[in-house]
Amino acid sequence: MEHLDPIAEFREDHRIVRDGILDITAALKAKDMAKARKILGTLNEVTGPHFRYEEEYLYPLMKEYLGEYVDQLISEHDNVIETARVCSELLAKDELTDSESEDAQKAAMAMLIHVSNCDGLAILSERISQAELDALGDRFGEAREKGIGLLEWAATIRKSA
Ligand SMILES: [Fe+2]
Repeated sequence: MEHLDPIAEFREDHRIVRDGILDITAALKAKDMAKARKILGTLNEVTGPHFRYEEEYLYPLMKEYLGEYVDQLISEHDNVIETARVCSELLAKDELTDSESEDAQKAAMAMLIHVSNCDGLAILSERISQAELDALGDRFGEAREKGIGLLEWAATIRKSA
């Protein structure tokens, strides 16, 4: 059976999210609601399986190298989820006030810090054995197949974990 390359896929997701955050920040600045909604939809789809894979499999494995720092990454996820929830509520409106647009831009940019912190795990992942990497690739693939968006996952499966 073919295994996903978990490190390559992990980094590719981070690139998509990095670009999405930069693009949604520009769309919020321009108050282009349709574009911002579309980007948030993509971010929600990509980050749902990604966060799920990380919290269920990758982060627990990384405790071996990083100990309690892993808990910080999980609390960064809490912040990202809350920001995504607030953004989705804002974007349900017809238009944004100047201060709503500015706050949403700042919140979106703050998410970039987590992308950068999380991508740092790639360098450590290179020390994981090939057998474990294959297993991680399979878990990543399963999370993608389930395909539950971030906000839905956070409100249901993650909450009850
Ligand atoms: Fe990540």
